[in-house]
Amino acid sequence: MSTRPTAVKNDLDIRPFSGAPLGAEVCGIDLSMPLDEMTKVTIHEKFLEHQLLVFRDQALTKREQVEFSKQFGELEQHTLRNRGQDDEPLVHIVSNLGPDGKPTGKVNSDMWHTDKSFRPLPSMATILHAQVLPPNGGDTCFANMYAAYEALSEEDKTALNGVKVVHSWELSRENIGRVMTPEEKRDAPTNAWPLARVHPETGRKALFMGMHASHIEGMPLEKGRAKIIELEEHATQEKFCHRHTWQKGDVLMWDNRCLLHRADPNFDASVYPRVLHRTCLRGTTPA
Ligand code: OGA
Ligand code: MN
Repeated sequence: MSTRPTAVKNDLDIRPFSGAPLGAEVCGIDLSMPLDEMTKVTIHEKFLEHQLLVFRDQALTKREQVEFSKQFGELEQHTLRNRGQDDEPLVHIVSNLGPDGKPTGKVNSDMWHTDKSFRPLPSMATILHAQVLPPNGGDTCFANMYAAYEALSEEDKTALNGVKVVHSWELSRENIGRVMTPEEKRDAPTNAWPLARVHPETGRKALFMGMHASHIEGMPLEKGRAKIIELEEHATQEKFCHRHTWQKGDVLMWDNRCLLHRADPNFDASVYPRVLHRTCLRGTTPA
């Protein structure tokens, strides 16, 4: 039986990032405690409004992170290779460490993407909790895909109607130089989603692509890829982006349905460890 304490009332203070196209800091909350209904509703509303919430000064165990995450949706399993450790398999360890525990020099997820877009039900939200940080850098960057869509000309928006993108884990692994095992391939068949999807909760349209986006359905491969690259260049312009500079104890919660994100390897990843704990919440069929 769970021995979780009962919910406490929180005195939430929400501060949108000034001058940024997304994101807000949430103060006055301890995420290790169950949330009362009002707090939960407010966090959910602010999550929809700002797309990225930053909670400071948390110290969640893996179990507490799972419990916090579960209050907002259904936890998602990670891909075969990245399944978490046995103690808490739903918590994925994001790190630059090798099996020997030493920095490898390699930072994963450094290309723009939206989590698990190749899955039948791509992620709704990702929750990332800093454990070990380099002295500087190792930022996470976000780009607002509502803003990117809305900035298109009416003509370009119309041209996206009915256009579907094939998302492929296999392709995105090939792009980083890795060939998948047959078992991994079976675990991740491709899926095609609208390039401009309608956010199921806000009803706003957002561009949906990133590094798992392979090509456009019904278009020659290279032409489709070129189109995706062109759109991504538009969508990740500085004016649509926000850079998160990590502090110890930070918990980030972002909306994968309307943001792209990437890790910035702007630190010496062969010297400094960078470790974060990740949980993902399952989304719905993109439409
Ligand atoms: C992720 C991810 C980025 C980072 O965990 O899904 O993309 O900065 N992380 O580590
Ligand atoms: Mn990611």
